[in-house]
Amino acid sequence: MKVIWDNKIVDREEVKIDFEDRGYQFGDGIYEVIRIYNHMYFCLDDHIDRFFSSANKIEMNMLQSKNEIKILITALLKESGIKTGNLYIQMTRGNASPRDHTYPSQDVKPLLTGSITTAERNLEQLQTGIKTIITEDIRWLKCDIKMISLLGNIMLKHEAHKHNADEAILHRDQTVTECSSSNVAIVKDGAIYTHPDGNLILPGITKVVWRNCAKKLNIPVYEQAYSTADLLKADEVFCSSTTIEIMPVNQVDSQSFTVLKSNSIVKRLQECYKVEIVQQCGKLTN
Ligand code: PDD
Repeated sequence: MKVIWDNKIVDREEVKIDFEDRGYQFGDGIYEVIRIYNHMYFCLDDHIDRFFSSANKIEMNMLQSKNEIKILITALLKESGIKTGNLYIQMTRGNASPRDHTYPSQDVKPLLTGSITTAERNLEQLQTGIKTIITEDIRWLKCDIKMISLLGNIMLKHEAHKHNADEAILHRDQTVTECSSSNVAIVKDGAIYTHPDGNLILPGITKVVWRNCAKKLNIPVYEQAYSTADLLKADEVFCSSTTIEIMPVNQVDSQSFTVLKSNSIVKRLQECYKVEIVQQCGKLTN
């Protein structure tokens, strides 16, 4: 398997990451996930822009330009031969010794890594939906940074799994924010409600795509906070992310939701999302 390591494409076995890399010691780094359909990246520029925006928010100096990263990941995609999958890239603040909380000097080089794995679209779940739980958002207050320190998120996902659920819908003082690894929105009386961007959620790129879809379909979208009570009273609930696309929710705690019924707004968003994929990456075979 070929991977990106230190600005090069190498065999995975060649990778050497020092235990004093700040990503390993402090979780000091950022990442992106980019979906691949038909050997092509979906929403590539948006992801690269967010990668640089995350870097900027933690004052990390990128050694490469956006274009250089695009060239590198495009070469990796070609090399991998993968048709449908996910690219993960990470940038840590690099290897600085001795261990010190302070940001290291400018001569410490950030380290870029990346890999691609096959991941088919989950067609069945896109029809039947996922089960979720509501739980308190225990994370920090800079959730807009796509950072590699994901302990809060993975603890929340684990909580969901302990309840045989796929995703945890998070709240702060009963205000719904997002999920452990996706954004969340509700449909009520023909309109969509989702938490506004800001420091409490990740500004999802999938959300941008479905918001544009809603605009085309004349479905109002209100980016405003709503409560866990509103969530339970919703007509439809859905999660969105690069990897799960527009995913209907069939259960929140013990409450069931009928998924993709006639006139379903989530279904119309899914159809529009698929058109967007086809426009950018060509016809889907599944
Ligand atoms: N997660 N919120 C959180 C906490 C996320 O981790 C993600 C994505 C999103 C949705 O963002 P986008 O639409 O840009 O994928 C929202 C990815 C899939 C992951 O970390 O694997």
